[in-house]
Amino acid sequence: MSKEFTLTILPGDGIGHEAMAEVQKVITWLEEKRGFNFTLHEDDIGGAAYDRYGMPLADETLEKCQKSDAVIMGSVGGPQWDNVDYNKRPEAGLLRLRKEMGLFANLRPAIVFDALVEASTLKPEIVKGLDILIVRELTGGVYFGQPRGIEDLGDGQRRGVNTQVYETYEIERVARVAFDLARKRNNKVTSCEKANVMESGKLWREDVAALHSKEASDVELEHMYADNCAMQLLRNPAQFDVIVTDNLFGDILSDEAAMLTGSLGMLPSASLGETGKPGLYEPVHGSAPDIAGQGKANPLATILSFAMALRYSLNCGDEATEIEKAVQAVLNGGTRTPDIMADGCNEVSTSAMGDALIQGLNQSKAIAA
Ligand code: IPM
Ligand code: MG
Repeated sequence: MSKEFTLTILPGDGIGHEAMAEVQKVITWLEEKRGFNFTLHEDDIGGAAYDRYGMPLADETLEKCQKSDAVIMGSVGGPQWDNVDYNKRPEAGLLRLRKEMGLFANLRPAIVFDALVEASTLKPEIVKGLDILIVRELTGGVYFGQPRGIEDLGDGQRRGVNTQVYETYEIERVARVAFDLARKRNNKVTSCEKANVMESGKLWREDVAALHSKEASDVELEHMYADNCAMQLLRNPAQFDVIVTDNLFGDILSDEAAMLTGSLGMLPSASLGETGKPGLYEPVHGSAPDIAGQGKANPLATILSFAMALRYSLNCGDEATEIEKAVQAVLNGGTRTPDIMADGCNEVSTSAMGDALIQGLNQSKAIAA
């Protein structure tokens, strides 16, 4: 199999740069030790792109992304762009990238690594072995619905409007992704909405149920109100396998699920569109401007996002597993960045964590060989 791929690398803002430098080490390792040949295009997104191009995602950057096999992103945002117009804020660049690349399914795994079970704020017996996958709809709903805006009503009064809107095809395609992924896991999907108060939620529930009986009756399906899901995630997270939900609930529930693992710095994500189109891979954590440039950031979420790119866009699942195993080995060996530091462990910098991972990879046996 040819292992020639084109990647667009978008470090973004804040800790994105230092995390991406560690991904670069893994890329070089794959070239040297596993016969890969990557063509890399690096560009800006978010605040960095606003400063350079006057907009948070330039057309030429988008074009590079669309022509790549996968896009690896750091994170966007920072206080210096707080007063920039909504449509030019760093976040708007990311939203445009998701929309224009048609990335309707956002996969956010929340996995509790054995070595980090104590890092969770929940009791170890509640989170041990936890492995949940949130599939968040990413190109619709209230994030993109029209009308939207802030209107001046006079008399010092204003009116802010956003629109939650979904059509059947949008619900079906993301639910299909959830059912497909559940089949490779524990075969259960929990679909979350607020069908009790929202018409778009009622449609969501009905369309997911209809698709289930048409195409996926082999998978267990459960419907749950999103507020109940938020509560159940804390009460008994092990009941979940795959959760499928809309853009806004997915944003919130995935942060909550991430925190069950106690370490936002560990969690990757994949955003996928139609089969054969490039995916976007980014950590769940933000740009952490408060610690940027200090060597304190945990690069593992970005590295694990790159592993997801190998699995889902480059069809190199063996190498993805190799990287994931090396991450576990490094954690088991007690190497920790400050965010996941624990008693008796060895606190290291961002780049030393990247080096430890490469060492772990060198000690691993090639799964593909
Ligand atoms: C996320 C983030 C983004 C979102 C922001 C940065 C626009 O919170 O990816 O979860 O709300 O989707
Ligand atoms: Mg979020």
